[in-house]
Amino acid sequence: MVVAAAASQEILKPHLAIDGGHSLRGEIRVSGAKNSALVLMTAALLTEEPVELCNVPALTDIAGMCSILESLGMRVSRRDDRITLTADALNGTEPPYELVNSLRASFFSIGPLLGRLGHARVPLPGGCRIGARPVVEHIRGLKALGAVVDVRHGIVTASIPGRRNRLNGAQIVLDCPSVGATETILMAAVLADGVSTIENAAQEPEVQDLANLLNSMGAKISGAGGPLITIEGVAQLHGCRNYPVIPDRIEAGTFLMAAAITRSTLHVTPVIPEHLSAVLQKLRDCGCVLEVNGDGLTITPGDIQAVDITTQPFPGFPTDLQAPFMALMATAKGTSVISEKIYENRMQHVGELQRMGASIRLEGSTAIVEGVPFLGSAPVTGSDLRASAAMVLAGLSANGTTQVSGLKHLDRGYDNIEAKLTRCGARINRHNG
Ligand code: EPU
Repeated sequence: MVVAAAASQEILKPHLAIDGGHSLRGEIRVSGAKNSALVLMTAALLTEEPVELCNVPALTDIAGMCSILESLGMRVSRRDDRITLTADALNGTEPPYELVNSLRASFFSIGPLLGRLGHARVPLPGGCRIGARPVVEHIRGLKALGAVVDVRHGIVTASIPGRRNRLNGAQIVLDCPSVGATETILMAAVLADGVSTIENAAQEPEVQDLANLLNSMGAKISGAGGPLITIEGVAQLHGCRNYPVIPDRIEAGTFLMAAAITRSTLHVTPVIPEHLSAVLQKLRDCGCVLEVNGDGLTITPGDIQAVDITTQPFPGFPTDLQAPFMALMATAKGTSVISEKIYENRMQHVGELQRMGASIRLEGSTAIVEGVPFLGSAPVTGSDLRASAAMVLAGLSANGTTQVSGLKHLDRGYDNIEAKLTRCGARINRHNG
């Protein structure tokens, strides 16, 4: 009785009903990268002139970032995939807790607020479902640049001491190549007095995208995309027009895996193959043929064989594609070992995949996945953004109709995923509960 009541409640929640077992075909479009767009938007705090971004994805996280920036006095105008941000009358240096807590990337505003206004008070974002996600490296970097930083009652207050209104260039060696810390320090250091270096910097393409935007605003940054970044501070930055956000490598990887799990040939575009090298290698290793075609990739899956992955900072296999890859391995021939090395709690999709008949043994942060010939449908919940994507992939390949809830996570990071997949032959309906 209790079980029946729980199951019926499950499907009253907003969910996708995915009728599995249909092939995909044709071309699927990749939107701009969420994790680039979010940080590029905060970079607009660094100048009073308008910064115009294009290829911005339509996501709830982007809407959340618009609200956070507006709470600081930024003027935001949005049309289609274009956002213009003008910080000519900032009236706040403290984004509200509720907003920062719901969107971790907004903590990264501390760097540009400090660099531009000399002061910032930003609530600590707290842990999240996938791990504790500390920000000690961000804070250590700001201190090295001469800021006085105080963490009290859950709020980080950072200011430039004395009468100077500029930070000082410094040599910073990160303990770990944190993406957010590298981005925070970059944005603080661009307006500092003198030269800064970041060693053991994150090499993710989103960091490079940020450096390219800042350079087009007048910054002098070299080495981004590698482990040593050099920033020659400038007195001020100007605006820029029409800056295109890079294509989302994680969305592209998710679609390539959607093709592989449904054993379908699909053209995924636009893709920058170098942003996905480790992923493309693993897809080839498991039996897919990948061809570069124009600005996209065509994937033709073969008989999918099990391969092992270990998540690593870029250029290694990205943690954000670990869950989707596990869904693929759940239907591969043989046994794969999937090790999560970035986050301590990013295996919550294992239980949901098991509900669909996957054979997975979890040992700490390592999953041993024995492929099964097919998955079965079930009501499942995505516990975080990428776990939700994994459930969608599993649903595309399963026998029967899978109900995937947890859409608030999915909508944070996938721009119209069901419309894009449906256009390629998937059968997915959204139910708003
Ligand atoms: N870390 C520390 N100390 C720090 C900062 C980070 O130990 O001071 C550790 C974290 O605990 C974690 C690892 O370093 O274990 C990586 O964290 P990082 O700071 O690089 O991640 P982030 O900047 O918070 C971004 C993406 C994540 C993505 C990671 C890794 C944004 C908004 N988020 O997070 O994206 O997983 O880089 O590539 O850019 C997602 O899109 O689903 C997502 C979680």
